[in-house]
Amino acid sequence: MITLNRRQFLATSSAFAGMSASAGFANSPPTNLIAQKSDVQLLPGDYGKTSLWCFDGSSPGPEIRVAQGGRVQRRLVNRFSQGTSTHWHGIRIDNAMDGVSGLTQDAVQPGNAFDYDFIVPDAGTYWYHAHNRSLEQVARGLYGALIVEEAEALDIDREEVLILDDWRINPETAQIQNDFGAPRDLSHAGRLGNLITTNGTFNLALSARRNERLRLRLVNASNARNFQLSLDGLDGWMVALDGMPLTAPLKVTDTMTLAPAQRIDLIVDVTANVGETAHIVQVGREEAFSQVAFEVEEGGTVNRRDAPAALPPNDHAMVDLQDATTLSLSMEGGAMGRLSSASLGGEIKPMGELVQAGYFWSFNGKVDGIDGEPFARLDRGQNVRLKMVNDTVFPHAMHLHGMHFHEVAEDGTLGPLRDTTLLERGETREVAFVADNPGQWLLHCHMLSHAASGMMTKIVVG
Ligand code: C2O
Ligand code: CU
Repeated sequence: MITLNRRQFLATSSAFAGMSASAGFANSPPTNLIAQKSDVQLLPGDYGKTSLWCFDGSSPGPEIRVAQGGRVQRRLVNRFSQGTSTHWHGIRIDNAMDGVSGLTQDAVQPGNAFDYDFIVPDAGTYWYHAHNRSLEQVARGLYGALIVEEAEALDIDREEVLILDDWRINPETAQIQNDFGAPRDLSHAGRLGNLITTNGTFNLALSARRNERLRLRLVNASNARNFQLSLDGLDGWMVALDGMPLTAPLKVTDTMTLAPAQRIDLIVDVTANVGETAHIVQVGREEAFSQVAFEVEEGGTVNRRDAPAALPPNDHAMVDLQDATTLSLSMEGGAMGRLSSASLGGEIKPMGELVQAGYFWSFNGKVDGIDGEPFARLDRGQNVRLKMVNDTVFPHAMHLHGMHFHEVAEDGTLGPLRDTTLLERGETREVAFVADNPGQWLLHCHMLSHAASGMMTKIVVG
C-alpha cells in the first residue's frame, strides 16, 4: 500500500486536474463550444425557422482553425437535452481526446462540460461532430469544420470551407423529421434528406473574379448521401483527400464522389466570364443542381497562373506491405442481403431477433458495437493490410478513427491516404496502415444509420 503525504497528494491531484472535466485549463481561459438548440433559418423563402442542435448557435458550428502542430483546446458545454461528446474526425489524436461516448469517455450530460485538449499533427481539412447517438445528433446539426493550416501559405487568392449536408425536413412544419431509427433507413441506403445545403444555406451563392484562384475545402457532413460533384466555369485540381495531400495535383475532368465524412481539397481557377456564374454542380440521378454558385464580378485578371503545386506532405510512417498482418472484414446484411443470423453479445441470433433489437448489418457475422469484442488487437507499430468486402447491395463509407490508411490499388501499389473509404455495392477494397497510435479506435460505416444498426466495431492498438 502506498501512502502519500499531503504535499505529494496535492502534486498528484493537480497533475490529474488538467485531465478532469471540471478542472479546466491551467494557463488559459477556456474557449467554450456550447451544444445547444437554436432556431435557424435553414429553409429558403417564406418557410419558418428550424430548430437545430448546434455548436455555438449555428450549424455548421464555429470553424476551428489552427496551425499544423498547434494545440486545440475547447470546453464542450452541454446545454441541450441529451448526453453528447465531440469527435475530431480525421485527427491522429490522443485516444483519450477522441470523443467517442461509451468508449473513450462518458457522454457529457446536460449541464456538464468536458475539456478537449490535443495537438494536431497533420495539416488539412478535418471536421468535428457529435459522437453519441450520432445518427440523430449529427443529422440535427452538431458538427463544424476543423482546419489545420500548412506552415507555408499557398499561392491562392482566398479559400472557402464548404460543408455539404442534406436534411430531412417536414415542409409543413419546417422541422427535422423525428424518424430516427426508421427501419427502412437503417436497412437500406441510410437516412437521406430532402433539403440540400452548403454551410447551412440552400443554393449558396458566392462571388468570384475571373482567373481568381481559390482553395475549396469540401466536407460531407450528411448522414448517408454520396455527393456526385462536377465543376462548371471552374478549372480544378484535387490536391488532398480527407485532409491528406495527394502526391501530385489531380486535374478534375469528371465527377467527383464525396461520401459521408469525406473531404476533398480543390484548387480551382475561375474561368467563367464577368456576368456569368460558375458552379459546383451536384450531379443528380436525372438532373444536375447548383450546389454552390460563384457569380463572377468585375476586377479579375487577364492571365491565368501555372498549374498548382502539390501540398507539402504530412509526416506519416511508411507502411510495409511485405511485413503486414492481413485482416479481412466482410460487410453483410441490409435489405436484399444474405444475412440470416449473426452473433450478438456472443450468441447467434436469427435475423428476426436481430431486427427486433435494431440490427440489420454485421461485420464477419458479428454485431460487436462499441462494447463488444474488438475486431482486432494489434501491436503498436504493426503493419496491417485490411481487406474489406462489401457483400451487400448498398454503398458504405468505412471510417477508421485515430490513424490514416492508404487505399491499396488493384496492382498492389499504395494509393492515397484517407480516413474514410467508399465501397460501392459488391466492391472489395484493401487498405493498409501502420498501427502506430495506441488506444481503442472505432472502425465503422459513416452512413450513420448503418453504424447505428450493426456496422460498428473497434480495433485495439496495444
Ligand atoms: Cu466521423 Cu466515428 O466518426
Ligand atoms: Cu454503411
